[in-house]
This record gives sequence, C-alpha cells and structure tokens, in this order.
Amino acid sequence: MAALLGILLAGLLIAVPYVLRLVHSFLWVPHRLERRLRRQGIRGPPRRLLSGNAADYRDLLAAAQSAPLASFHHAVVARVAPHYREWPARYGRPFVFWFGPRPRLVVSDPEVVKTVLTDSTGTFGKAGPGGGNPLARQLFGEGLVGLTGEKWARHRHVIAPAFNMERVKGWIPEITTITSSMLDEWKDQDGTRPEFEIDVHKEFHTLIADVISCVAFGSSYEEGKQVFQLQEEQLKLVLLALRTVYIPGFRFVPTKKNRTRQLLNQEIRNCLHKLIEINGRKCEDSNNLLGLMLSASKTDSEFKMGFEEIIDECKTFYFAGKETTANLLTWATLLLALHQEWQSKARDEVLQVCGKYEHPNAENLSNLKIVNMVLKETLRLYPPAVFLNRMVNRDVKLAKLDIPAGTQLQLPIIDIHHDVNIWGTNADEFDPSRFAEGKSYHLGAYLPFGIGPTICVGQNLAMVEAKVALAMILQRFTFVVSPSYVHAPMLVVTLQPQYGAQVLLHKI
Ligand code: HEM
Repeated sequence: MAALLGILLAGLLIAVPYVLRLVHSFLWVPHRLERRLRRQGIRGPPRRLLSGNAADYRDLLAAAQSAPLASFHHAVVARVAPHYREWPARYGRPFVFWFGPRPRLVVSDPEVVKTVLTDSTGTFGKAGPGGGNPLARQLFGEGLVGLTGEKWARHRHVIAPAFNMERVKGWIPEITTITSSMLDEWKDQDGTRPEFEIDVHKEFHTLIADVISCVAFGSSYEEGKQVFQLQEEQLKLVLLALRTVYIPGFRFVPTKKNRTRQLLNQEIRNCLHKLIEINGRKCEDSNNLLGLMLSASKTDSEFKMGFEEIIDECKTFYFAGKETTANLLTWATLLLALHQEWQSKARDEVLQVCGKYEHPNAENLSNLKIVNMVLKETLRLYPPAVFLNRMVNRDVKLAKLDIPAGTQLQLPIIDIHHDVNIWGTNADEFDPSRFAEGKSYHLGAYLPFGIGPTICVGQNLAMVEAKVALAMILQRFTFVVSPSYVHAPMLVVTLQPQYGAQVLLHKI
C-alpha cells in the first residue's frame, strides 16, 4: 500500500508541474498575447482554445488544392498559401492566425520585413521552417538553418567561405560535366524521335543531388543516394507534423510515427557517418565544404566543430541545397517552355556568349544577363522558400505596432513577390525585364534567399548551378510545355509542381 501511495505521489509530482506548464503556455500566455494584439486592431480568424486556427488553415489548404489550376498562369498565391489571400481580405493587414498557443503575425510591409531580417540585436530569432516544431527540426538536424546565437556564428564562420563566389566558380567544370551526362542521357532517350517528353522535376532533383554530393562532399550521387532517399521519407513525416499542433513532450511518446522518425534519423546519421569516413581523408586537402568542416574539427580554435555537428551540417546541406535549387530549375524550365519569346532571347544570348558546343565557364557565366534575369523572375513568381518565420524575443516597436515577446512573425515571401502595390498591375505575369540592369527594388520586397546576416549561405552555388544547367539545356534543345503537364504548384516544405513538370524537348 505504501509503495502504491509512493508511486501515486511520484506520478503527481511529475504530472502537476507538467499540467501547470501546459495551462500556462496553452491558456494564459495566448490569452495575454491576443489581448495585446487586439488592442492595436490586429485581427484574424477566431481561434480555438487549444489548436488555434490549425484546422482552419488545413481546411483552406485542402479546398485550394482540391483541383489543379485551370490553366498555366502565375497567380498562384491563392493555391499555394490561400490564407495570405483569404484572411487579409476579411481581417485586414497585418493579420494574425494561431497555430496552437502561438500567434503568427503576418507582416508584408517591405520596410518592416527589412527591419526584422537585418536586425543584429537578437530581437528577432529564427523560428525555423517549422515555426519551432521540434519534429520539423529533424529534417535539417541541428544545422545552420536552425541554429542561433554563438553556435550559429561559429558554424557560419566555417561554412560561409566554402560558398564564396571564387570557390563556387572553381566547381564549374564539375557542374558542367555532371549536367552534360544528364543531357546526354536525355538525347539518347528515344534515338529515333526528334521530340520526346521528360519530367524535368525528377531529373533536376537527381542532377542537383549529384552536384551537391560532388562539390560539397567529394562523393557521388550513388554514394549519397541512400541519404536522399531516407530524407524523402523523413520529409513526408515532417509535413504531417507541420500541419498539426505540437504538444510539448510529444516527440518522446513511442507512437508508430515517432518510432519511424527516430529510426530514419538514426539511419541518416549512420549513412553520413560512413560517407564522411570514406570521403573525409580525400576531402581534407580539397577545400570543399566537408574538407573545411573536418579541418575545423581538428583545430583548437574557438571555431572547432565536433563530429556530430559536422553530421548535422551535412544533413542540412543535403536537404537545403537540393530541394530549393532543383525547384528553381524546374520552374525556370517550365516558364521558358511556356514563354517562347524569352526562351529564344535566352538561347540567342547563350549561343552568342558560349557558342553552340562550348560549356559555360567561370569567365563567361557573368555575361549571361538574360538567363540571370529569367532566374530572378522565376524566383520572384515561384520562390522555393515561400515564407520565413521569426520569433520576437523581447517586446518591440515595429512601425506603428507594439509587438509582444513570444509572437511569431511570418514574412510571406510569395505574397510580397506577387504584391501589385510593389510590382505593378502585372505582378502575376512573367516579365524578366523587371530585373534588367539598372532597375532597382526595395530590399524587403524581393527576398528569395532572405536578406541580412542569415541570408542563404548557398546562394552563389544555387545561381551558378541553375545558370550552367539552363544554358546547357538551351544549347541543346528547344522545349514546350507538354500537354500532359498539369499546373498545380504546391508547398511541400519548398514550392513544387504537385504532379511533376513534363516538357516536350526537341534536339537542335
Ligand atoms: C534556389 C535555391 C535556394 C533558395 C531559394 C534558398 C533560400 C534560402 C532562404 C530563404 C534561407 C533563409 C534565410 C533566413 O532565414 O534568413 C536560406 C538559408 C540557408 N540556405 Fe538556402 N536557398 C537555396 C539554395 C541553397 C543551397 C544550394 C544551399 C547549400 C548547398 C543552401 C543552404 C542554406 C543554409 C545552410 C541556410 C541557413 C543560413 C543561415 O542561417 O546562416 N541553400 N536559403
């Protein structure tokens, strides 16, 4: 009996603080935050006590994505992120919605966006792509994308030099070789027919995976394949987690999904462990990403990185580097397939700058101005990262608003990129001439790579890869959108075509 009472007492001692913490964070804090936001006239859909607007968000998304778009046009915000259109129409801007106990204040004023992202005082911390949901962090490990404070600064210091423009330019021969072998395979697709269909979305994922494996880790796609495949499994589970409200401690409950999450995580780490062992020695002298991280693991300086930290960074780069760039190339190819006049202009430029048979190189790549404009316009209309989240760490005044600590700010990149007040009445149209030399735009109005101290560290690599690949495709093929393509852009952590990207290619 005494033993039973002891167990009950111990149970109560554990349960009571947990329940009190839940009441505090799920009831008291949201109530306080909501009052402060309301007093300033910031409104949003009525929230449910525990789940906030998670269900409303899911319903909006399900309705918007129940069918593809009727035609291939670029007014895509209402399908990809319908809450950026529905809720401000009803509640004004800025508006707030709730995911569980956290308010997400959506701010789209470029000046405010710039203030938040360029802040260096620590007032606005990263909230991560999952808005702080620990189940989403698994995808990126504890790598740069999710890190903050001193650890972020240390990792950024080691990693940033791996992606400076000079080093990236040095990787161009490898990038052209890998791209060329993909295009050779395309050419051999159906030797007899001059025209054939390819799902470029699939092809670009393999291409970019191969490039990242090679230039960052000194390995090949075949070696890294298992990591990519496991990450795709992990992505599906992360997506499920992102659409539900996270209850503190839930990740430790041994549900079937949580066990699979653990297992996948462990398998990915094991694969990376092996990859580093195999490629580590040859990378150490080669100044690629893995080499730089391994060298940093051997120093006694303040920038020393441990082995587990290196694994976390590898995870981040495999995912952050592949999904984003592959999707940029996919949308750029689809856009050029649809807008034939720009395809011709871009091809004329490539043939003039690189010739018909020469690969692009470090010297002539910067002369591909039209290709660059096409890529920038693609990133405006179809930004792979659709929004950024920031956590407000202390009470702060932003323009006319008093934002309480504990609010999450959501910066809706895609909505800002399609805003007619910024880009004019043709905001939803494809017009690369917006990015012609000499034209300028507000720093907070165009941010596919983010801005400020945490701006994408892989930006140079992404743009060089995309330019090289697009130029080489233009040299060898003309292409149109296939009749089997269905236009259905969808957010799957990054913005992708739901049913693939089928184009009809013609050898030239
Ligand atoms: C078109 C391609 C890409 C796009 C649109 C893109 C976009 C972004 C965005 C929006 C951010 C967030 C910035 C912030 O939170 O302030 C980011 C961060 C990051 N990206 Fe990219 N990215 C791309 C390619 C890449 C590539 C190729 C790599 C690496 C191989 C990479 C690695 C990273 C990392 C590590 C961060 C975190 C930076 C930090 O917090 O210091 N990205 N990217």
